[in-house]
Amino acid sequence: MYAFLTGPMFWLSLAVFIAGLFWRAVWYARGLDWQLDRVAYRAWPKEGARGAVRSVFRWLVPFGTRGWRVQPFMTVVFFLFHAGAVLAPVFLLAHNVFLESKLGVSLPALPRFLADALALLAVIAGLLLALRRVALPEVRILTDWRDGLVLALSLAPFITGLLARFQAGDYQFWLLAHIISGEAFLIAAPFTKLSHIVLFFMSRAQLGMDYGIKRGGMKGKGMAW
Ligand code: HEM
Ligand code: HEM
Repeated sequence: MYAFLTGPMFWLSLAVFIAGLFWRAVWYARGLDWQLDRVAYRAWPKEGARGAVRSVFRWLVPFGTRGWRVQPFMTVVFFLFHAGAVLAPVFLLAHNVFLESKLGVSLPALPRFLADALALLAVIAGLLLALRRVALPEVRILTDWRDGLVLALSLAPFITGLLARFQAGDYQFWLLAHIISGEAFLIAAPFTKLSHIVLFFMSRAQLGMDYGIKRGGMKGKGMAW
């Protein structure tokens, strides 16, 4: 079981994750309307790029945009969750030792206590995000089973990873459960809202370009829109 999960299944899930997310990004760009979007973006590449970078970075800063400032509770929980969700798996020593053995490359590793703290924070903040979806009517009305699935797929590798790490009960069991849930996450990403891992950057960049060129970004500079 372990050999299968860390052998063929590992390669398959990594390939689906990378190729699938790449595919989603390509189709986002191909879905742009040539009359409404491309004509303006092609003509003003510098203004567009400036708007794109500004929009992506502003939204990555806590309280950096009005959208973040009007919902302070959501903002704090969101950033606590995503700090763990992004940093813990990428810079985890155990993952990088594994990647080194598989691919011959690895990234720097976080100190153990920091990785543990980030993983634990991700679980707590993730549960608060789930609670928010149930508790607030304005969010509940936008929620369906797929949003629950995405939260479950995101939280399962963190919960099982921590249970394995702290050797709670049967280590072999939690490690296998962890790898299965991690691979399920990787495979599901391109087909669910988890594709926001790349589409966040695509849509923010596009909206940033739009505001940088059209919608007032080039007011008085000869731009017809
Ligand atoms: C794809 C295959 C994966 C493999 C083979 C794998 C392997 C491992 C291993 C060996 C550990 C260490 C357990 C120990 O300390 O003994 C671990 C821990 C962990 N993994 Fe993964 N993992 C995978 C995917 C993921 C994914 C997709 C995520 C998150 C989205 C994730 C998050 C974590 C976390 C949070 C921990 C525990 C962190 C801590 O030390 O406190 N893993 N993983
Ligand atoms: C750099 C990569 C990422 C970026 C920029 C990003 C950004 C975002 C944004 C903007 C939202 C929407 C927040 C809102 O409702 O206003 C979101 C939601 C979410 N993200 Fe990410 N994300 C990233 C990576 C990840 C990863 C790796 C995971 C899982 C391990 C994840 C899991 C989630 C979940 C579960 C939600 C929905 C939370 C809810 O139900 O309210 N994200 N993300």
